[in-house]
Amino acid sequence: MAMAARDAVNFTQGPAYQVETGRRDGNVSRKEDALRFLPPADGNVTVLTEYFAVQNLTYKDMVVLSAAHTIGVAHCPSFDNRLYNYTGAGDQDPSLDAAYAKNLTAKCPAGNVASVQPLDPVSPNTFDLGYYQSVYNHQALLASDAALLNDSLSGAYVELMTNASSQAIFFADFAVSMINMGRIGVRTGTDGEIRATCAIYVD
Ligand code: HEM
Repeated sequence: MAMAARDAVNFTQGPAYQVETGRRDGNVSRKEDALRFLPPADGNVTVLTEYFAVQNLTYKDMVVLSAAHTIGVAHCPSFDNRLYNYTGAGDQDPSLDAAYAKNLTAKCPAGNVASVQPLDPVSPNTFDLGYYQSVYNHQALLASDAALLNDSLSGAYVELMTNASSQAIFFADFAVSMINMGRIGVRTGTDGEIRATCAIYVD
């Protein structure tokens, strides 16, 4: 997965970075485990930071890795509460840019579960600073992305990257944090195994 992510980042014009290989892994994979540790799409900075901390990832890792949302899409149910039921009173998230919200409402009528929208409307298919520009312009798709503007430290990083004249700092930060993420839950000693074929566990 670390290698596939590295290549996806590079194919979309992001940084080229090396990843660590040969980690000892557990030999059971359950999809419930993955869901249990995924941060919620409506999490605020405190909640997101806690989910990252459980995996030994820092606040900065959280702010930097969130920008993986510079590529890819989300399904309407991941964000449509921001359009139709933000506080439970049938209202809209007031922090959403009005024109952007109108466009999302057209693309995701209430109850639509199948459609997708780009996470980074500025440049959906390019790994660049567009994510931070989207967040800064109140055009972040997920509430968890918009939340970065609501905390002074993460907001400062968003602003710095929005106005950056080069992508170099973001690219370097992203590579460091991806390597940190690749170290989550590495087994030691005789625990688990180093997979000979990464994608397959043969009992
Ligand atoms: C900060 C906490 C995070 C939250 C709350 C979050 C949440 C989400 C959600 C809700 C989606 C859309 C799912 C759907 O509706 O189909 C998504 C997509 C995505 N996320 Fe995250 N995510 C987070 C962090 C990350 C990190 C750390 C990475 C990688 C380093 C990442 C990479 C992606 C990518 C590439 C997609 C698009 C997938 C596609 O196009 O099919 N996310 N994320």
